[in-house]
Amino acid sequence: MHVKPMSGVAVDPSIKIFRDVSPIRKYRRELLLSQRSVGFVPTMGALHEGHMSLMRQAARENDHVFVSIYVNPTQFGVNEDLESYPKTWESDISAIQALDRELQSTPEFGRVSAIFAPTTKTMYPTLPPSSEPQGHGSFITITPLAGLLEGASRPVFFRGVATVCMKLFQIVQPDRVYFGQKDIQQSVIIRRMVQDFHVNTEVQTVPTQRESDGLAMSSRNVYLGPRRRNVATVLYQALRLAEDQYTKGMRSRGDILWPANDLIMRRAREQEELPSSQRARFEVDYISLAEPETLEELEEVEGGRGAILSGAVKMLPLETPSAGEDCGLGEGAIAVRLIDNVIIQALH
Ligand code: PAJ
Repeated sequence: MHVKPMSGVAVDPSIKIFRDVSPIRKYRRELLLSQRSVGFVPTMGALHEGHMSLMRQAARENDHVFVSIYVNPTQFGVNEDLESYPKTWESDISAIQALDRELQSTPEFGRVSAIFAPTTKTMYPTLPPSSEPQGHGSFITITPLAGLLEGASRPVFFRGVATVCMKLFQIVQPDRVYFGQKDIQQSVIIRRMVQDFHVNTEVQTVPTQRESDGLAMSSRNVYLGPRRRNVATVLYQALRLAEDQYTKGMRSRGDILWPANDLIMRRAREQEELPSSQRARFEVDYISLAEPETLEELEEVEGGRGAILSGAVKMLPLETPSAGEDCGLGEGAIAVRLIDNVIIQALH
């Protein structure tokens, strides 16, 4: 049994939309008994090419692809953007259908056959979920990983992510799960959770999809508007400068990171010096050079282990919008946090 979509979008009958746990479990069990593999792509909707690339890889490696669309409240802090997080159900469904039609033309690929779009009551059946660090609830905490990098400024974020992913994995029982490199810490934490809790699945990390100028695709980019969008490439450019240092043979933290920090400081100064009607100010949260599994900061990169270069930048709200300026969704008033990373490959 499957329920109708939440709006009037006609859904291809080969893609079932599930809102409840029992029907999707039943469907999954039928697939298991007929020895069909399932690859699972958890998302919060507002789908873009990054999400689609996860589904494509899942379709290459499995008979069936399950996608979840659920904006998980427990990973948003009390003052974060849960309310304003973009919700685009109709275009998400259309994008999945278009992808599935594309997959149809390659018979050796699997197909998207299930979309799981639960309510919060379904996902958190007993207590209303808490976004307070000390709040009650049944949570998965992965420490110290969840407190580093993104976790340092977002204390409940990875607790919420790990918890909802564990719930989703329990429901879907996927053979493989797909996460984007864009959110590398998330991928590392899920990998650790799967290992530590003996979750019977394989975690795949899929390369970051980018716009043509290098900006990592993100559901939140719609809030930038052209003025902030132009400056937003600074993070990736900085990380690439650091990567170049490694490629040139540098191994110490200072030698690898200085050109990245220098570029960011120069760009920040350039913006400060512009009139408020033209500038897009930003703040750097961190630029990190970390060990790939523990995410501990490194003073020296060992060639055999590689490293993760990552960073977070907050694009501040626009101060003085010009007349008729396109300021993006939210009129430029919403700060946009950008994250990105480059993996320095281990030398073999
Ligand atoms: P969401 O931000 O919707 O992202 C869903 C998946 O898409 C994540 O694995 C993310 O890393 C991946 N992704 C996002 N942008 C990408 C890009 N430019 N290239 C490649 N992959 C990209 O991440 C979440 O949702 C949530 O935390 C979730 C795991 C669903 C738990 O609620």
